[in-house]
Amino acid sequence: DCISSRRLLKLPGFIDAHVHVREPGATHKEDFSSCTAAALAGGVTLICAMPNTDPAIVDEESLILAKKCAKKGARCDYALFVGASSENTSTISEFAADAAALKMYLNETFTTLHLKNMDVWTKHLSNWPRTAPLCVHAEKETLAAILLLANLQNRSVHVCHVARKEEISLIKAAKEKGLKVTCEVCPHHLFLSTNDVERLGPKKSQVRPVLVTPEDQQALWDHLHVIDCFATDHAPHTLEEKTSEKAPPGFPGLETILPLLLNAVNEGRLTIDDLVNKFHKNPKKIFSLPYQQNTYVEVDLDEEWVIPEAMPFSKAKWTPFAGMKIKGAVHRVVLRGEIAYVEGQVLVQPGFGQNVREWELRINPLDSRPPSILALDRPASPSPHQMDDDDGQTN
Ligand code: DOR
Ligand code: ZN
Ligand code: ZN
Ligand code: ZN
Repeated sequence: DCISSRRLLKLPGFIDAHVHVREPGATHKEDFSSCTAAALAGGVTLICAMPNTDPAIVDEESLILAKKCAKKGARCDYALFVGASSENTSTISEFAADAAALKMYLNETFTTLHLKNMDVWTKHLSNWPRTAPLCVHAEKETLAAILLLANLQNRSVHVCHVARKEEISLIKAAKEKGLKVTCEVCPHHLFLSTNDVERLGPKKSQVRPVLVTPEDQQALWDHLHVIDCFATDHAPHTLEEKTSEKAPPGFPGLETILPLLLNAVNEGRLTIDDLVNKFHKNPKKIFSLPYQQNTYVEVDLDEEWVIPEAMPFSKAKWTPFAGMKIKGAVHRVVLRGEIAYVEGQVLVQPGFGQNVREWELRINPLDSRPPSILALDRPASPSPHQMDDDDGQTN
């Protein structure tokens, strides 16, 4: 099927640091097998899985359960978030080395983990290790509050799904002041706006943060240099749920993020360097994720297609991007030497995916430091295989 005129490009395996897998607890929406098939089809070889599951991942028992589900079902590599609750301020840091990061939900959304009490925020900010990543769902004035509290603790925070002009402007100002803040933006805030609400309807268009105005959206594009990462916030709910009386917020996004970004490259709104920096290098660095050996994605910059009503692998069976004309497609994905995806087929089985937080413990088997310190001492010192790291780091 390969025609000679097309531009095939070899890019690193992409890293999506914001994915709602739904397992345990809501596997009719998604599970590790379907979610990581969707990831691979979207050129994503490593996901960080959010903790707002059922049960939520907030203690040892729930983390063990999530690890078991992931180990059995995942086709691509992964790390697992733990969630901040009002009850676990003094216990959750025990799992810092095991976790992708700590997630703090500071606004109302699809979660049982909403933290209303600012004392609880401060306790988490001070107890979670300074060297481990900490992510916040913080919108509007809540973002200003958490940035101040984090700064008073002299610790870094990563801001999830920045959507509004006031938020990206605040992060820009905070960065200019030297605050330790990084952020991500989602495809549905870059490529959809309130202009799409009528087409989608009041229920299907529900997402948190909400779809923003064209002015907010333009501010995101104008502040591309302030955006550290692209992440999907892949939040699958079924079509039936999304059209029901109490439609939950959230969009599937794993299968469409890379095509949408490649289309933006074709439109001259983004460079390939931006894509590699914000969807591979920066999330890798911010979340201290290890190098995936012999892992890459071949994309076809010239393939033209229209996003269908539903993408094939997510159980969501709908997409808010349906009908969009795209130039750019994922052709082939190689993960740790195996062809994981090619031309519409996922070829790796559930169980192929690995928890990358377990790798780092293996990298220095002779290191005498206790595992918890070892795993937090990132980036890990290089194994012989890391010398050809695509990031060109000489660590
Ligand atoms: O739209 C959203 N959906 N925003 C969130 O913060 C949570 C997510 C979900 O889990 O469905
Ligand atoms: Zn081909
Ligand atoms: Zn969120
Ligand atoms: Zn989310």
